[in-house]
Amino acid sequence: MTPDQARALMHEWTESPSLRTHMECVAACMAAYASLLAPGDEDRWVVAGLLHDFDYERHPTMEEHPFVGVRHLEAIGVDAETREAILGHAEYSGVARRTPMARALFAVDELAGFLVACAKVRPGGFADLEPKSVRKKLKDKAFAAAVSRDDVRVGFEELRPLLPEGFDESRHFQTCIEAIRTRIPEFSASPA
Ligand SMILES: [Fe+2]
Repeated sequence: MTPDQARALMHEWTESPSLRTHMECVAACMAAYASLLAPGDEDRWVVAGLLHDFDYERHPTMEEHPFVGVRHLEAIGVDAETREAILGHAEYSGVARRTPMARALFAVDELAGFLVACAKVRPGGFADLEPKSVRKKLKDKAFAAAVSRDDVRVGFEELRPLLPEGFDESRHFQTCIEAIRTRIPEFSASPA
């Protein structure tokens, strides 16, 4: 499946603009990590990002999401690694995150949502968002309270062993900020 095909499927199942944007943001972060951890495999990583929540609008319960979506992906021939990564991004699925793709997806999912929340309360949006203000906001439990701080932390801990020496949490935040800023048109505009 190509990213364009994944995007078409995602749009078919998802009407919500914010949920579409969330999947685009996660896909942007996946592209950034694919270029680091799986050069040449960028498209498959982007597809995992674009589809990780594609069934959520139709099937939001823990009984169905992401299982219904993944069954559909299997029926249309999406590869096992991508399906396993999508299952693994839901902690409650019990599916272990064994591959770099699965670990990256979990590491960027909650974080991408949190970064968008951070950018939304800044006059400059993503333009001048920096890791240190993200860290500060993470400590503010009332801010974007729905974002699991544990998932953000555990996600990076799982990814860290795959990353180059010295690639710390700040660099992880920076990588995702830049990925979203450069790849998502609505977050690329300079502040007014
Ligand atoms: Fe997500």
